[in-house]
Amino acid sequence: MAPSAATAKKLAIALDTDDLDQALDWAASVAGIVGIAKVGLQLFTACGPLAVEKLSDTGLEIFLDLKFHDIPTTVEKACRESSRLGVSYVTVHSSGGVAMVKAALNGLGQGATERGHHVPQLLGVTILTSAEQASESDLAQRISILLEAGANGLVCAATDLPFICSFAPTLTKVVPGIRRRFDDPDDQARTATPEIAVAAGADILVIGRPITSSSNPRQAALEISSAIEFA
Ligand code: C5P
Repeated sequence: MAPSAATAKKLAIALDTDDLDQALDWAASVAGIVGIAKVGLQLFTACGPLAVEKLSDTGLEIFLDLKFHDIPTTVEKACRESSRLGVSYVTVHSSGGVAMVKAALNGLGQGATERGHHVPQLLGVTILTSAEQASESDLAQRISILLEAGANGLVCAATDLPFICSFAPTLTKVVPGIRRRFDDPDDQARTATPEIAVAAGADILVIGRPITSSSNPRQAALEISSAIEFA
C-alpha cells in the first residue's frame, strides 16, 4: 500500500553527509514516503545554503538542524538568515535560556516576512538522545524555557515522551534516536522503535542511519512508514 501524505509529514530523513549529490540521491530514494529533509551540521557546513536550495527544489520540507546556542543577538541574526532560506523547522538549544529563544523567534519572523515565506517552527533541543540520562528536573527546566519564550516544539528522546506529553502537551514533539528492533543503535543511547515513539506521542520522527546506511534506503523508509501508518 502507498504511504499516506499524513504519514510522510511525520518522517524526517537526516541527510548526514558532506556530499550534496549523495544527499539528493537519498532524498530522491525516499520520495513520497518521507516528507521532511533534515539538513544538519555536517551537510550545512560542507555545502551551505545551496544544500537547502537544492533539497527544497525536490518538494521536501526542510528542517535546518543547526542547534543554535549563543548570545541572543547572534542567534536572532542566524535565525533571520535561516528563515530567509525558506525552511520549515529550525533548532536551538533550550539551555540557551528564555532571552535566547525569544530572540530566535524574532529572527525567524523577520527573515520570513522579508522574503514572504511561512515562519519556520522553532524547536528547542532538550537533552541529546546520545546522553544516557535525562532527569525530570532538567527536562522540566528546559521545557519551561521553551514554553515561556513561546517556541513551537522540542526535540527529545522517545523515552522522555510520557513526561513531556503531560508537562507540555501543546508543543510539537520531534524524536530522533529511532531504531527498528534489529538496527544498530550507533551512538544513540536512548532509542525507540518507530511505532513505540509514535504511540508515545511523537509528532515527527527523525531517522538517519537506519535509512541512509541501508543497502536499500527506499525499502528501509517503507518499512518505517508502514510501522507507523496505523500506530
Ligand atoms: O543516524 P541517526 O538516526 O542516529 O540520526 C539522528 C539525527 O538526529 C542526527 O542528524 C542527529 O544530529 C539528530 N539529533 C539527535 N538527537 C537530538 C537532536 C538531533 O540525534 N537530540
